[in-house]
Amino acid sequence: LSLQQDQQCFDDILEAAHAAALAFLHSLPTRPAGRIPHPLPPDMLPEEGLGAMQALTTFRAKYEAGLSASPGPRYLGFVTGGTTPAALAGDWLVSAYDQNATSGNDSTVPEIERATVSLLRALFNLPDTYEGVFVSGATMANFVALATARQCAAERLGCDVSEQGLWGLPPIPVLGGSPHASILKALSMLGMGRRCVEILPHLPGRVAVDPRAVEQRLAALQGTPAIVIASAGEVNTGDFDDLAALAECCATYGAWLHVDGAFGLYAACDPAHAHLLHGLDAADSITADGHKWLNVPYDSAFVFTRHRALQQQVFKATAAYLGEGSNQIHDLTPEDSRRFRALPAWMTLMAYGRSGYRELVARCCSLAHQFGQGIERAPSFELLSPVSLNIVCFSLRGADAARRDQFLEALTADGTVLLTPTSFAGKPALRAAFVNWSTSTEDVVKILEALERCARLVA
Ligand SMILES: Cc1ncc(COP(=O)(O)O)c(C=O)c1O
Repeated sequence: LSLQQDQQCFDDILEAAHAAALAFLHSLPTRPAGRIPHPLPPDMLPEEGLGAMQALTTFRAKYEAGLSASPGPRYLGFVTGGTTPAALAGDWLVSAYDQNATSGNDSTVPEIERATVSLLRALFNLPDTYEGVFVSGATMANFVALATARQCAAERLGCDVSEQGLWGLPPIPVLGGSPHASILKALSMLGMGRRCVEILPHLPGRVAVDPRAVEQRLAALQGTPAIVIASAGEVNTGDFDDLAALAECCATYGAWLHVDGAFGLYAACDPAHAHLLHGLDAADSITADGHKWLNVPYDSAFVFTRHRALQQQVFKATAAYLGEGSNQIHDLTPEDSRRFRALPAWMTLMAYGRSGYRELVARCCSLAHQFGQGIERAPSFELLSPVSLNIVCFSLRGADAARRDQFLEALTADGTVLLTPTSFAGKPALRAAFVNWSTSTEDVVKILEALERCARLVA
């Protein structure tokens, strides 16, 4: 049987996987940053298994060419970083160790998660009053934060929503200037509905909310429980809401302040940008991603709240077989069984420390500025928003959405860089996010050349 044969050659299988990983990593400088996917013939479930070696060979032959250089230096799509060497080593071991990071009844893994959360609190300069847990991504982190906020708001309306549900409660208003799409998704999953979001006016020329508009709306709500969503790093421009002003409004009117800092929380690492987070420590809940600027592999984010009891009320799972105890991680997260997500983060934080992340964040911001200046000088492009952190939002001059998409397709086919589309003030736009530890100034030069080359192709 394949499984028994594989057991005999476990070492060879892992050696082959190691060789495949190295071949992929060494291909990053020349591999296209993005791939336009093509349909492939379907796989048939084999009656007799191929064995791991043959499965790996088959996978590589059929699929490897279609993988993009997304951990490489010129993948500027979304806001996803690569993987530091230490994080990658940690992530490999997560699968080998295969521990269930949940109850703490059978290993030290939950302790390591708590230790890693402490390292993260130190990285972000957060006080110990914040409880933190790992989840799969910022969408789930926002979900956990909003579920806890919902519990709090409903409690003020006399209802334990974790037991009784939302039935019969009035809508809970959620206020913000530019909440990320994942906030709306979380509200849909929570039964609060996307329509409970009220988009308030922005400051002139910005996507940051006008704090006076938040103040006025909260005053008009006359003490009705509300949730304010602050963006610490808006996904298209990197703009920040004024956290201190929003915190003051929330304190005055008793609203919950949630800060979505999926990538922007890392501004705390760089003294030149840390002021953008002034007021953060008044937030009720905070979200940040690991698979963004921490540069750990996908499936890593953290949510911090100052309301452990409420969070536990929402997420507790009681069953005799799960064991008892007040310190169970699975009582704070949507999942029960969970991957040992903390290890890649622990490895990278210990390997590079505060100064490593200070340098990484500062360098990405400086590359974004260099790129933004290049865009301002380039005849075919227009910078749409000042570069406040690590994201550059710009347009192909005079292009409608169809020509912008044609340009993006040409750019992806060129392979030098991957960018993602957006719209800014109603204009079809492009965005470049600098979050990868390995991007250099030479990459920025190559990227600007590729942009000009592809702009000529669609002129
Ligand atoms: C501000 C913000 N919040 C939330 C998310 C969602 O993150 P994830 O894709 O990790 O769920 C993103 C992703 O770009 C983001 O930029």
